[in-house]
Amino acid sequence: MSYVLGLDLGTGSLKGLLMDQKGSIVTTKSSEYDLISTQPGYSEQQPADWVEAAKRVIQEIVAEIPEASEKIEAISFSGQMHSLVLLDQEGSVLRNAILWNDVRTTLQCEVIMDQMGDRLIEITKNKALEGFTLPKLLWVKEHEPEIWNKVARFLLPKDYLGFWLTGHQQMEYSDAAGTLLLDVTNKLWSQEILETFDIPAGSCPPLVNSIDCIGTVKKEIAEELGLKNEVRVIAGGADNACAAIGAGIVHENTAMCSIGTSGVFLAYEPVGTKNYDGHLHYFNHAEPEKYYSMGVTLAAGHSLNWFKKTFAKDLSYEELLSGIEKIAAGSDGLFFTPYIVGERTPYTDSQVRGSFIGMDVHHTLKHFAKAVLEGITFSLKDSQLLMEQYTGKQFNQIVSVGGGAKNKDWLQMQADIFDAKVVTLETEQGPAKGATMLAAVGAGWYETVTDCANEWVDFKEEYSPNVETAEHYGLLHKKYQEIYPATKALFVPISE
Ligand code: XUL
Repeated sequence: MSYVLGLDLGTGSLKGLLMDQKGSIVTTKSSEYDLISTQPGYSEQQPADWVEAAKRVIQEIVAEIPEASEKIEAISFSGQMHSLVLLDQEGSVLRNAILWNDVRTTLQCEVIMDQMGDRLIEITKNKALEGFTLPKLLWVKEHEPEIWNKVARFLLPKDYLGFWLTGHQQMEYSDAAGTLLLDVTNKLWSQEILETFDIPAGSCPPLVNSIDCIGTVKKEIAEELGLKNEVRVIAGGADNACAAIGAGIVHENTAMCSIGTSGVFLAYEPVGTKNYDGHLHYFNHAEPEKYYSMGVTLAAGHSLNWFKKTFAKDLSYEELLSGIEKIAAGSDGLFFTPYIVGERTPYTDSQVRGSFIGMDVHHTLKHFAKAVLEGITFSLKDSQLLMEQYTGKQFNQIVSVGGGAKNKDWLQMQADIFDAKVVTLETEQGPAKGATMLAAVGAGWYETVTDCANEWVDFKEEYSPNVETAEHYGLLHKKYQEIYPATKALFVPISE
């Protein structure tokens, strides 16, 4: 039996997933690394730590499945988006990678929007946000000129792993779209943006598709990893694109609701010409010539964790959430807004903070817990509505993954709030599954990513909206949407 290997380079750890030609999971391993934060708002990592983690993961997989040493046909990647890796002429790393969750670049974002504004959104389909790569490049240029002068190339994290394995530098479109330098519709580095911000065109790597072969594992590295055959290395995709592929989001009118620390509402987009005026992210998909739109709730699972830790730390999640189905939709008048670390979609507001509104003497801990779940889901509904309003989409299936897919009452709540059918996956492996599927396509096992998804992605449970509850939630969501405009001024610091 032949195998393919997906490596998901996350923010906290690297996960390896080995699958066979039947689409079955053979084994999975992971290895953690540190975040480096030398100042508040700074978030960095050492690319060498990713390489060490990848080595450990592959060696452990080969040790457990000895056959894998001769039978892995292709390796591919999924990776944290936007994080900046700078290389010199020799391909050596010039400084720690500046990560997607580093927020030092507020000023650079303002400069970008002042200089290009709507034109930037027209070309890249996205607004400048602290997490994206262009503001990071401008920060290094301004604050570390001695490093900037040595920059020959910039890469994103998973592309650095591809470079380590093959010796070739490139970037594929789904990640390039998150740099704010790509003309997303035409799939080219934007000369206009490069010239406006004086970024040398040569620092941008050649562009490839996610399923393209970028080389084979170098001989000396293969020996160190215990790989005996020639292994093709496939470009891979951004973690959100890979998570979407792993959840089967390769068909029109399908979407994914992913609730981890942050929450993502992501929809398949068949063409690259739509325009959400920057209110949603819009990126190239890992399926060539396809796209996806995405809204982000910064504190989704994070809001629930915070609530449990602060108010119910001795209860398990099951205990905290048991019985919430007995409380009527709307938690008897209690609303929660999940803006505890600011918000990305739909408001892009780093100053706003969360709130409980409508507290009543009859409310219990369970009302608060249910209100938290409702608030998180209402926030994701905001992204769904933007997609529906801009493009007339009608979602016929929403795949729920992550923490939100672990509780049946929350799944039913998602179906009622989204007013759409919600399904769960038979086997959930996050972005690593999408990376492994890209390897399978790159190995030639399937012609397209869609063909692979049709074979490898199975759904388990299905939740349909209850007509009355969905209608009631529609009215409650309208009230929820009034909270932000009514309260945002409260969060502006008094000095301003
Ligand atoms: C997407 C984003 C995050 C990272 C996390 O815009 O910033 O989802 O991709 O890895």
